[in-house]
Amino acid sequence: MFVPELDGEHKEIFVALDDLQTALAGGGDIRPHTAHLTDCIVDHFAHEERLMRAARYGSLTWHKQQHIAARRRVVEFLQRLEQGDTGAGPELVEYLSNWLHGHTRLADRMMGAFLRNQRRGLWKLTFQAGTRPADACDWVDSKGDRFKPTSKA
Ligand SMILES: [Fe+2]
Ligand SMILES: [Fe+2]
Repeated sequence: MFVPELDGEHKEIFVALDDLQTALAGGGDIRPHTAHLTDCIVDHFAHEERLMRAARYGSLTWHKQQHIAARRRVVEFLQRLEQGDTGAGPELVEYLSNWLHGHTRLADRMMGAFLRNQRRGLWKLTFQAGTRPADACDWVDSKGDRFKPTSKA
């Protein structure tokens, strides 16, 4: 995708998924692993949604719906695990790895292309128009949060 902060999070999620799979095979307590995986996913979805919102991305709703659907499925698997249904563990791993591959290949890639183009575009606009960046656009830090740059450099 080449949006470095998001690519790093994707890697983190795949590592967490691998760790869960290893824990499932080992037969130990999987709760720390499901909790960590869930944290990674929830934070990552929120991060992407902040970036898309800040960039006024046209397909935000479509993309966010996919996040919501996946999150709902994950919660269902976790509830089954809580109820002692051990089959839900491997099913969660299988569901999520399939979903992530599909989602990162299409929806995240489209978003990444848009964000990259927009970041380039904003710089061009700023320089060509001679507008102060503070007036030309919203400033978004690496976490996707808006901030006000100080006007005097
Ligand atoms: Fe996404
Ligand atoms: Fe993603």
